Amino acid sequence: MGNDLKIPHDVKGFVRVLMPSEAEQPILARPVREAVHQWMTELWATEELKAVGLKPRRSMILEGPPGCGKTTLAHHFSARLGLPLLCVQTDNMVGAHLGETGKNIAAAFSWLEERKDDAILFLDEFDAVATKRTEDNQACAREMNATVNSLLQRLEASQGIIIAATNRSEAIDPAVWRRFGMHLTIELPGDEERYAIISRYLAPYSVGIPMLDALTDALDGASPALLRQLMEGIKRDLILAPRLNRDLDLKATLLRLTVSVRPHPAYKLPPFYKSSAVIDRIAGMPWPPERKDAA
Ligand SMILES: Nc1ncnc2c1ncn2[C@@H]1O[C@H](COP(=O)(O)OP(=O)(O)O)[C@@H](O)[C@H]1O
Ligand SMILES: [Mg+2]
Repeated sequence: MGNDLKIPHDVKGFVRVLMPSEAEQPILARPVREAVHQWMTELWATEELKAVGLKPRRSMILEGPPGCGKTTLAHHFSARLGLPLLCVQTDNMVGAHLGETGKNIAAAFSWLEERKDDAILFLDEFDAVATKRTEDNQACAREMNATVNSLLQRLEASQGIIIAATNRSEAIDPAVWRRFGMHLTIELPGDEERYAIISRYLAPYSVGIPMLDALTDALDGASPALLRQLMEGIKRDLILAPRLNRDLDLKATLLRLTVSVRPHPAYKLPPFYKSSAVIDRIAGMPWPPERKDAA
């Protein structure tokens, strides 16, 4: 298995392949980590389970707000199993012509079946093809219902490993939901995870525990994706300051970040964005930080 995995013509428009070598491990709350680890162990223990009449679960649906690591987790999971992730952008599957979406779903599942246990199918933005069926008799509603029905059949019949992800779990058809062997919620990170995420994305800079604590408090409510952008913003300023003829002024850096890297308006603003006292507390700490490049 190399990077040469052939993508069949009929799925080219909505699939990309994520290889094990490119995966990174998301930082997740302990119960989530444990549930995922158990599933992995289950897939490794197929024979032992069979001996007592059990089959390993074959599917999982991930739900939770954007930027919290659903795609990253699916990729990491497949990498740990040493398998490529066939990543389907389900919103790109939805076609304008009658029956097109169902045909695309069939093509994606057929590809998985062909590869047997050599790949994992990942259905991203899953609500695009799995929203609740309705009684509505309009053409587009009938088409959506037919799509969900064909999805149900394919999920039922599939022997492969399937992961789906959605930010809109309330929109998913209940029968589709039930087909998944595991339902995992990935929430916004708590204090402990935020601390670890901030520290990871500040590396190779080492800012010390007091500043990590202050950033962790200031960014309560931020998603990992936002934390990453903010920490990368801090590092960018550290590197670029000499070229821009700027002093290493942490307060100026933080204020620039409050206006240029922001959560989506639908999400709660962390204290970092709302209080100058919070900024001053961080900006009052020693700066610039030590840099510990890998030897
Ligand atoms: N739990 C996490 N731990 C570390 N980094 C994360 C985590 N969640 C997201 N990220 C970072 O944010 C980026 C976007 O995350 P992604 O997995 O695409 O989120 P989602 O699929 O939930 O919208 C990732 O590339 C990763 O760098
Ligand atoms: Mg995603």
